[in-house]
Amino acid sequence: MKKYWWQDAIIYQIYVRSFNDSNHDGIGDIPGIIEKLDYLKSLSINTLWISPHYDSPMDDNGYDIRDFFKVAEEYGTMEDFKKLIEVAHANDMKIVTDLVLNHTSDEHPWFLAAKDPSHPDHQKYHDYYIWHKGHTAEDGSRIRPTRWISWFGGSVWDFNEPTGEYYLHIFSKKMPDLNWRNQAMREELKAMVQWWIDLGIDGFRIDASNHLEKNWDFPDDSPGYQHFSSLPKHHEYLQELADELFIPNNLLILGEAGGASKEEALQYAGFDSNEFNMLIHFGHVWVDTDDSNQLTPGKWAKGEVKLTKIKEALSHWIDVFHEKGWNTLYWHNHDHPRVVSHYGNDDPKYHAASAKMLATLLYFLPGTPIIYQGEEIGMTNVDYQNLDDFKDVEVFTEYENFMNHGASHEVAMQALRDRARDNARSPMQWSSEPYAGFSDQAPWMPVVGNYPLINVANQDKDADSILSWYRMLMTLRKEEAIGFSYPSFYHLDKDDRFAYSLKAKHHTYYVVGNFTSYPIDFTPDVDITAMELYATNQPTIEGSLSPYETRVYRQKK
Ligand code: NOJ
Repeated sequence: MKKYWWQDAIIYQIYVRSFNDSNHDGIGDIPGIIEKLDYLKSLSINTLWISPHYDSPMDDNGYDIRDFFKVAEEYGTMEDFKKLIEVAHANDMKIVTDLVLNHTSDEHPWFLAAKDPSHPDHQKYHDYYIWHKGHTAEDGSRIRPTRWISWFGGSVWDFNEPTGEYYLHIFSKKMPDLNWRNQAMREELKAMVQWWIDLGIDGFRIDASNHLEKNWDFPDDSPGYQHFSSLPKHHEYLQELADELFIPNNLLILGEAGGASKEEALQYAGFDSNEFNMLIHFGHVWVDTDDSNQLTPGKWAKGEVKLTKIKEALSHWIDVFHEKGWNTLYWHNHDHPRVVSHYGNDDPKYHAASAKMLATLLYFLPGTPIIYQGEEIGMTNVDYQNLDDFKDVEVFTEYENFMNHGASHEVAMQALRDRARDNARSPMQWSSEPYAGFSDQAPWMPVVGNYPLINVANQDKDADSILSWYRMLMTLRKEEAIGFSYPSFYHLDKDDRFAYSLKAKHHTYYVVGNFTSYPIDFTPDVDITAMELYATNQPTIEGSLSPYETRVYRQKK
């Protein structure tokens, strides 16, 4: 059944800056990760995905790389990183790092040379990026090459006086896009990747992988996403990386590529294709947008959560990869709201129940789980009252955008508290000590006010905590080989509960959860008379499921 080491991996994503601050400068670091490896082992974690740890001016918290071969000083040294690999490996844990290949920082030496005609290597590096002269209006003023909009809001084009040209950046203006048509550039990137492989890295998460190719005709559409997303040629680039680096080194490749069709998903991550091994697709992540909201549009418009859509997305991806590839299970990553606030309920009355219900319904499914730091204790969205408390580069362009759409400050702040990426980036809540035990110093962004209650130390010894529930689920996943067990789905059409059964290694399971804050009628979909009620997050009442109740029934095979 098992073909690859990563099929029974349990991955934990670490956002270094916010995980654990060992030297008390208010910023998480690599030695801070090493300190917590025992904690992670207690959760059955055997693979860490580490968000960018490279030298960076931190415009986008490290997704803007200045030096691929250096560890960010505030995170530690290369020695620290080597030690992390060594200690992790000694503990049978694998290390997967982020690989950001679509862009660099504008402070990367390549871009410094590219933008400066007097630089001795200007000619060579100019072509490593994407440039355009733009247009001239009748009155002689400059017009941007196209009206394409960046993922962070605002134009994708910024003007560079010394060359008299615009450069393209589909993220922040400090993140110029690389020109993947330039072979010398690709060779340099591949040598860099090989360098990290030689250091002992076990896999990579490929950032923004479906944006590597652009439409070089530069049609003037707006927002124009189709001209820099999922263009056919990006598969050639990924295949080149796979053939030369990923496959020969038996790496785990997690590819980030939203919006893929079934065919394309198999091209990325089918067993016969192997550009990646697993796809991060976001199918279930934004199922509650309200298209009628014009004040804070797009992902920022919070609407009703449609459970049907979550179920459809989860079952869709399971079907796509069934026997043809391998599924990935995650509620969210560092770019999304906290799942307990987003799809559960962070009111203290429902917090623990809904966090456990969400975990149960996801982690009985097939594939490899990726737990995002803090999810295992039910960390919530932020409670920030000041715009300054937010740190994400995206927040500030979007706040301006909301104002231009006529939103009030309060409406804009609420949209940020509901949807901003910073929700997932507040410091990890380790204890009820000041600053949540993350650091002795005020952290780089404020801790969430509920940390005296929601923290690892409180939950560690409490057999009834969310953390204990996660530990139980992960232990069971291993013992029962749940990653390889395909469920039958029920109630795809009903918007209150999610239920399915599966045949695992030793038992048959029936799993059900109420996604609402009210009790619902409950008639089991399978005959449970011979089944044991193996786990539940609250006292059971016959014929009904309490708010956010989940139950796991099982029977020996
Ligand atoms: C996707 C990453 O997850 C996100 O955090 C980042 O801002 C963009 N790619 C750009 O690198």
